[in-house]
Amino acid sequence: MKRSLLIVTLLCLAALAALTWAGRDWSLFHIRDVTGRSDLGWVSCYNCHLVRLEKMPWAKPRPHHDAPAGLVVSPDGTRLYVALDDRDELAVVETGSRKITQRIKVSGNPTCLVLDPKGERLFVTCRGEDRLAVVDTKALKEVGSIEVGLLPAGLAYCETTAGPRLVVANSGSDDLSVLSVSPLAEMARPVAGREPYAVATVRGGELAVVSCRLASVKNLEAVAATEVTVVNPALGRVVARETLDSAHLSEGVAFVPSRSWVLTPLVKVRNLVPITQVAKGWVMSSGFAVSDLRGTLVQMPLDEANDYFADPSAIVSDPVGQRAYIASGGSDTVSVVDLDRLSAWLRKADAHDRREAIYDLTLSPEYVLARIPTARNPRQLALSPDGKTLFIAEHLADSVLAVDTSTLQPLGRVPLGDGGLNDPIRRGERVFTQAAHTFQREFSCRSCHPDAHVDGLAYDFDGDGIGDNLLDNRSLQGVAGTGPFKWNGKNPSLQIQCGPRFARVLMRTDPIPPKDLDDLVAFIEAQPPARTVCKSRLGKALTETQERGRQTFFATQRPDGTPIPRERQCHTCHRPPLFSNRLPSDIASNGPYDSTNFFDTPHLLGVASTAPYLHDGRAKTLEELWTVYQTNDMHGVSSYMNKHQLNELIEYLKTL
Ligand code: HEC
Ligand code: HEC
Ligand code: HEC
Repeated sequence: MKRSLLIVTLLCLAALAALTWAGRDWSLFHIRDVTGRSDLGWVSCYNCHLVRLEKMPWAKPRPHHDAPAGLVVSPDGTRLYVALDDRDELAVVETGSRKITQRIKVSGNPTCLVLDPKGERLFVTCRGEDRLAVVDTKALKEVGSIEVGLLPAGLAYCETTAGPRLVVANSGSDDLSVLSVSPLAEMARPVAGREPYAVATVRGGELAVVSCRLASVKNLEAVAATEVTVVNPALGRVVARETLDSAHLSEGVAFVPSRSWVLTPLVKVRNLVPITQVAKGWVMSSGFAVSDLRGTLVQMPLDEANDYFADPSAIVSDPVGQRAYIASGGSDTVSVVDLDRLSAWLRKADAHDRREAIYDLTLSPEYVLARIPTARNPRQLALSPDGKTLFIAEHLADSVLAVDTSTLQPLGRVPLGDGGLNDPIRRGERVFTQAAHTFQREFSCRSCHPDAHVDGLAYDFDGDGIGDNLLDNRSLQGVAGTGPFKWNGKNPSLQIQCGPRFARVLMRTDPIPPKDLDDLVAFIEAQPPARTVCKSRLGKALTETQERGRQTFFATQRPDGTPIPRERQCHTCHRPPLFSNRLPSDIASNGPYDSTNFFDTPHLLGVASTAPYLHDGRAKTLEELWTVYQTNDMHGVSSYMNKHQLNELIEYLKTL
């Protein structure tokens, strides 16, 4: 009995072994066959099979919060409107009692708010649905809606000789929608800089100024530079483009009528110097630009030598032009700038002083009057029309803080929600946006990854000299499940990527505590891929051009019938649905300072919005991947393509 059991067991083991050997053989053969690479060893079947986007952490339902995104006060000062983008709601607050009197539904992530001069119509950009909604403030009902460009952010109301106009910053399509108000119609769609974000009215509406959040790709090898786009709303035309040198993340803009100044907060970034300089305060600092719209432009620091005020996102100035307030979302502070003192400094400064001002961190006490502490992540600001009350949207605390501008003391808070501290994703967002983890609170994760996306810059992380081994930033939107991470594909998990590495290379201070790190990873994994297609086109069939591009992407032979080798077909490496097989590949893209020619095969979800491209960011556009940097058909076979075929391929890539 015992003996036969032993035999059966042995037989089973042998069978299993045989099966496994055969299995291993088959697997290896299969993997080498489908990749066309004989150098590959064992690769998990899950790299290429059973990947389903609906199963990704970001596709799961998640809790929503009462985060205030946009604010505006009624002309009579009695009402404050608050856009709750994550809730698809607007809250109406009575300013006297600071109580919410009503909440109304506005779908599509209501983000930014403006009122008409009488306060009868409220205009709302809805980022998630690419539209502008009109709300009647008496009935508190949505009474109109119009499609605008991709991911609308800021907007402004302009009284013009041709009638009232709205200027909407379409952050996803890098253009502006200029709308007439009645009838609600789009008049023009001028091109802005990269990610136009905030809009301010100049002289009632004669002009509008738009701050663009990211540096334009065109002059990347030199220094980063964002654009302030000046438009004439009556004509719907751009009349000037001002450049903010070595700046990025310009997310706010204000016009000071009494001085004719345009103020734009900015992050001064020195991405081309080795990141080891963080301890010398040379990587990022916060400031703001002062422009007179006649060509004079001065950048002033907001930071102090030993304390930084990271991620300055919003700016407002009071009606008399005496003060400006700047919210620093990364350091939970609103800085109060005395414009009289600033003006006095500017008057006595010569050209050299003005040029060097931004580098002199001893300067800010000359004009920064006070720093108002806030709850987590002040993101937007609004002043009452009399300038006596400042409202601060504490985005990740679900509250609005009211401050008395004469004493600079808090008057009280409008609680909107519970802060969401039971939600790891929300806690993770707090870690992500907080500068507390870097040396002298210089920057947060968000400073380089706004909206957990890219800032469009390449950084020198190695400290081995200027310009060597630049690393193009990578989006965290849709990054879950695409590991290993980094361009060299050496980090197996997000925990390792965001934990020790960040502490060692970037922060120059203590690592993020383990619990915070878990929350941080939960937040990153909850970010869906970037949307690069208008909401109204999502889920629709591809256009003919895009369809032809899709066929090129999946082609296994050239148009003349000659086969394309397995390892040169786009979809072998960029395997759907993530458009990555999660393996390092050699496409002959190594630069002079690279120690390897194998780079992580990037996923292509949302790729249209992540320029520049390749590990060192050398390709400014998708086209350049095959025109300027084409690698003798190592990066897919493209030599047979004519201009139209390449354009079609790119049109397809833009739909991913
Ligand atoms: C590097 C990517 C990759 C990996 C890793 C991989 N496969 Fe595949 N597999 C493919 C491709 C490509 C096909 C062709 C059909 C398709 O496109 O789905 C395929 C097809 C198959 C098929 C269908 C039969 C055939 O040969 O067409 C089976 C079964 C299969 N794979 C099993 C596995 C198993 C089991 C593993 C793990 C040992 C594995 N695969 C690992 C890419 C991969
Ligand atoms: C100074 C700018 C900067 C800051 C600050 C920054 N990152 Fe990054 N991040 C980058 C760059 C550049 C890369 C690409 C580096 C590489 O591949 O080696 C990157 C890559 C990543 C990746 C890998 C993505 C992928 O697809 O492989 C993750 C995850 C990430 N960052 C998370 C974070 C988190 C979390 C923080 C804050 C703790 C943070 N980053 C702060 C610039 C930055
Ligand atoms: C042998 C595998 C392989 C093939 C085949 C391949 N790619 Fe790639 N692709 C890569 C790798 C690896 C990179 C990153 C290289 C680098 O950063 O230096 C990349 C980068 C890209 C990028 C830039 C992504 C970014 O975020 O910078 C795009 C877009 C892209 N590929 C599309 C395509 C298309 C379209 C084809 C077919 C014409 C193709 N690839 C063929 C491996 C491949």
